[in-house]
Amino acid sequence: MRPAWHFAQRLCGRRAAVGVEVGVAEGFNANVILQEWPELTLHLVEIDARYAPRIHERLAAWHAPERYTLHIDDSVDVAREFPDEFFDIVYLDDDHRDAAVTRGLRAWYRTLRIGGVLAGHDYDLAVEGDVKTAVDAFLAAEQLALTVEQWDWSAVRVDHGR
Ligand SMILES: C[S@@+](CC[C@H](N)C(=O)[O-])C[C@H]1O[C@@H](n2cnc3c(N)ncnc32)[C@H](O)[C@@H]1O
Repeated sequence: MRPAWHFAQRLCGRRAAVGVEVGVAEGFNANVILQEWPELTLHLVEIDARYAPRIHERLAAWHAPERYTLHIDDSVDVAREFPDEFFDIVYLDDDHRDAAVTRGLRAWYRTLRIGGVLAGHDYDLAVEGDVKTAVDAFLAAEQLALTVEQWDWSAVRVDHGR
C-alpha cells in the first residue's frame, strides 16, 4: 500500500474507516488498498467508463461488493454527492495538470473530516503535470503541513477555527 494510505491507516487504527481514490484506471492501487486495509470502505472515482469492467473484474475477484463503490463520472461532480467531513482519507490521482489538481482539491477538501488525510500521487513528477505547484498553493492557503514520501504527498486536515 502506498505511504499516504499507510499513514491514514495508522491514524484510524482498527476502527471502520472510509476513503476515496479519485482516478482509478485499471484498479491496481484500489486492489492493494482493499487487501491491506480490511476495515476500510472505498469509494472509487473514474471518468473513463472503459475502465469499469476491468475494475469490477479485478476487485470482485478478491473483495466483497459492499467494500467498494465505483463512480463513473467527473471528479468534481462526484464530490458533490458527499456531505462535509465524510472521509478519513481523500486521495487524488486523476488529472495531474495544475488547474485540474486545484479544482479537485477545492471540491474534495470539505468532504474530509478534521484529522483526516488529504493526499495524492505523483507530487514531484513534472513530466506528468504540475501536482506540486497546485498542492503547495492549496496547503499554504489552508495552513496545512505537507509530508512527501516516495511519490505520495499528504497533509492532515486541521481545524483552524474558520
Ligand atoms: C494515473 S491514472 C490512476 C491510477 C490509479 N490511481 C492507480 O494507481 O492504479 C489517472 C486516472 O484518472 C482518470 N481521470 C482523469 N481526469 C479525471 C476526472 N476529472 N475525474 C475522474 N477521473 C479522472 C483517468 O481516466 C485515469 O484513469
